[in-house]
Amino acid sequence: MTAAVLAGGVGVRMGGARPKQLLPLAGRTIIEHSVAAFCAAPEVDDVIVLMVEDHVSEVAEIVADGGHSKVSRILPGGADRTQTSYAALRALESAADDELVLLHDAVRPLVSPRVIADCVRALGEAGAVGVAVPSSDTVVEVGPGRTGGEAIRAVPARASLRRMQTPQGFRLGVVRRAYERALADPDLVATDDCGVVLRYLPEEEVRVIVGEEANIKVTHPGDIAIAEALLRERGRRP
Ligand code: CTP
Repeated sequence: MTAAVLAGGVGVRMGGARPKQLLPLAGRTIIEHSVAAFCAAPEVDDVIVLMVEDHVSEVAEIVADGGHSKVSRILPGGADRTQTSYAALRALESAADDELVLLHDAVRPLVSPRVIADCVRALGEAGAVGVAVPSSDTVVEVGPGRTGGEAIRAVPARASLRRMQTPQGFRLGVVRRAYERALADPDLVATDDCGVVLRYLPEEEVRVIVGEEANIKVTHPGDIAIAEALLRERGRRP
């Protein structure tokens, strides 16, 4: 199975000059933590990285210096996350439809062996698998308010809501068919790959396995300190 590490974003919300996946975290770059997690997974044979085009050679150096030998290719990402996922699928076009792929946000450096293993195991029964955690906050839907600003439109029952993480895993045939339809849709708006399957291949069940609170997406400047604290805590566990 192949793991594709999606690193084509520039990290506007992080506010820095460099893509956030190149920032240091506990002595390694964020992207190296993610790459190392998949290289260490016994279920994964091959890792590909999709990186912001101007920084492909920098990642090649990180991979070579770190000895991450399962990484076979470092390719340019796309203009948005959907295009980067599609670039990963194009890179795997010679693979058979029944092969498996995991798509992972490079900026989730704390993905654990347990989450990767559970995701792969669920792919034995389902063609698409997402990783998600319950929401401790109430999540509301908002829209424009009558007197300006935003107003609540709906309060979905919290017990049935989850916050999606990555990796998201697929049989290649499933995610390929979904993306073919998605890219033919001029109104396509997508932030994750399970959402693409759900919308464009409604006959396919998208299974959910339990993620981890620690599997954070490094998004805002304060998240680096949180990720470092979580890594320290993981290091202390027996
Ligand atoms: N991503 C990608 N290609 C893009 C945009 C995003 O591969 N064109 C990746 C990011 O590199 C990241 C993951 O998708 O690993 C999750 O995206 P997000 O956290 O939203 O990253 P950015 O787009 O970099 O952040 P921002 O929205 O703040 O610019």
